[in-house]
Amino acid sequence: MTTTYTFLGHGVHLIQTGGHTVLVDPFLEGNPHAAVKAGEVACDFILVSHGHADHIGDSIAIAQRTGAQIICNAEIFEWLYRQGVEHVHEQHIGGAHQHAFGNLKFTNAQHGSSLPDGSYGGNPVGFLLTTNDGKRIYLACDTGLFSDMAFYGEDGLDLAVLPIGDNYTMGPADALRAVKLLNPKHVVPCHYNTFPVIKQDAEAWAKRVAAETMAAPHVLKPGESLEM
Ligand code: NI
Ligand code: MN
Repeated sequence: MTTTYTFLGHGVHLIQTGGHTVLVDPFLEGNPHAAVKAGEVACDFILVSHGHADHIGDSIAIAQRTGAQIICNAEIFEWLYRQGVEHVHEQHIGGAHQHAFGNLKFTNAQHGSSLPDGSYGGNPVGFLLTTNDGKRIYLACDTGLFSDMAFYGEDGLDLAVLPIGDNYTMGPADALRAVKLLNPKHVVPCHYNTFPVIKQDAEAWAKRVAAETMAAPHVLKPGESLEM
């Protein structure tokens, strides 16, 4: 069994593991860096970290086309249910559940979560995934730096995917501190360059990660993968 992580641009991620495909925060239409189209992407699970339009994105359309199950917090679950989307699993922060693709825990995220129509989207989350082949992946999603990240790294992380864009989330300096707290084997930056306000030099950040931490940085172009 292999596990592959693919960066699809902005905060969109794809994890293929044990015959399952997990799509995370599918903001594809209107995303200038999207590596796939919403009408073409294949998946059997969709994780939604929070309600912002650049994260919930095309979740409903993709779920309806593919039959994928959406996994999100309780408040977004209610919002989807009111729109007739019923193939949804709700979890919340601190809770883990064994899904077909592995064990998924919802983590803290320091951010907002209003939905595109202004509805309350609960608290935003990140994801800690342990695949069935034992790979541990932390997707911070949209968040500022917080010290509890040290706990998420305690059992060892194969991969951490961290925002570096600044303005809405951690910037490069705080993302570097996050790498030091998490101590992952590999780290991928995300949530930068999509819009002028989050423009960053990811290669310069990767050089600092390589020089100052034990993690191996990988600056992936949208559509590029990391086999784990
Ligand atoms: Ni956001
Ligand atoms: Mn965002």
